[in-house]
Amino acid sequence: MVKIMNNFDTYVIVGTQFGDEGKGKIIDVLAPEADYVVRFQGGNNAGHTVVIGEEKFILHLLPSGIMSSKGKCIIGAGVVVDPVVLLKEIDEIEKRGLKVDKLYIDERAHVIMPYHIAIDKAKEEELGENKIGTTLRGIGPCYNDKISRNGIRMGDLLDKERFASKLSWNLKEKNDLLTRYGKKTFDYDKIFNMYLELADKLKDKIIDGVYEVNEAIKDGKKVLFEGAQAMMLDIDHGTYPYVTSSSPTSGGVCIGSGVAPNKLNRIIGVMKAYTTRVGEGPFPTELDNELGENLRQIGHEYGATTGRPRKCGWLDLVMGKYTVMIDGLTDIVLTKLDVLTGLDKIKVAVAYEIDGKKYMTYPSWIRKSTKVKVIYKELDSWTEDISKITNYDDLPENCKKYVEFIEKELDTKISMISVGPERTQNIYRA
Ligand code: GTP
Repeated sequence: MVKIMNNFDTYVIVGTQFGDEGKGKIIDVLAPEADYVVRFQGGNNAGHTVVIGEEKFILHLLPSGIMSSKGKCIIGAGVVVDPVVLLKEIDEIEKRGLKVDKLYIDERAHVIMPYHIAIDKAKEEELGENKIGTTLRGIGPCYNDKISRNGIRMGDLLDKERFASKLSWNLKEKNDLLTRYGKKTFDYDKIFNMYLELADKLKDKIIDGVYEVNEAIKDGKKVLFEGAQAMMLDIDHGTYPYVTSSSPTSGGVCIGSGVAPNKLNRIIGVMKAYTTRVGEGPFPTELDNELGENLRQIGHEYGATTGRPRKCGWLDLVMGKYTVMIDGLTDIVLTKLDVLTGLDKIKVAVAYEIDGKKYMTYPSWIRKSTKVKVIYKELDSWTEDISKITNYDDLPENCKKYVEFIEKELDTKISMISVGPERTQNIYRA
């Protein structure tokens, strides 16, 4: 058994930065221990990469646990589901020889409709330079409908009459909006028939996931909650408005899966040994230079969902402390430490200076244009290849100093270190 999962029944795995920390790999490694893997927020804007031998799988909507878990995988109530994408993803994985027979979707999960995607694109186009940098997959507009209480939920698709009335109301509103944007409108019959067909294909998978997961916890089953995106993209606590439309925090687990806070035993934050960001928004430690480009090349920092190059920069412990606080992290998994091998020096942000004032905490009002002078701690690097090391004591001294510096600053145990994309390239410390 992977030690990090010993003696606990529920595990939360969340991103601590701007996403792409390598959660996909970590969930894949930990999922075999779990009886249930539950996604609780986001949609097909996620891009979890799982590498198995020579094969690379990129999962957008399916929980990463689907690849290695022996148990059930649930797309929880807080997720927004594009049924077209879901069926395509299932089909693609099955064509590559894996069975997707233990996947379930909570009937409360909201459905991404074609008009959500059209509105997402139209809005970003209209915002121009001020765009959010969304994945254009309809995620935001779908959450918008959920909060406005007009949303169509997976369970609605199984009730023809209810679906008909919700769709007709929504289409009227959305077609008016799309007309205002000067965009093509949607035909009721076409969408109605198409979504009934999609629902028919998925009907055996649509369940009451909230009761299922709570019963499982009561029965002492191991449940892993799988986060997508990350804390700094949280709708409330992230770098608003350059955030995602859901809560990728440990608090989001409760909202998105219907499991109470006192049922969460272990909260594991996945933290990349440096920082990357896709899309727009503030990034104080960004290296807009040759060093940043090196990190991008060595770390293969290109979006799994969009292929966009990720901006790269130093690890930021001002953000790290903020995340530890909001998520209540019990453990950290440090990923991509191997990417830092061979640098001259490694820097870590420990404070900010803005307009001559020093900040040890992350100010909510930082904008892209805010002039942040970052105060760094500089550490020595190492040159040895660490990608095959599995024992912590075998790491170069400077590498251990880097790990222990982060651990001390964040006052949180780094229980596992990932030194390569493969399932086996890990160092366990718990
Ligand atoms: P989001 O949910 O979209 O945030 O994705 P994610 O957190 O699952 O990250 P993603 O899988 O997109 O990106 C991580 C990339 O790094 C993938 O290509 C992984 O195969 C790779 N990777 C993961 N861990 C390591 C590691 O320790 N070292 C190296 N070199 N690569 C890694």
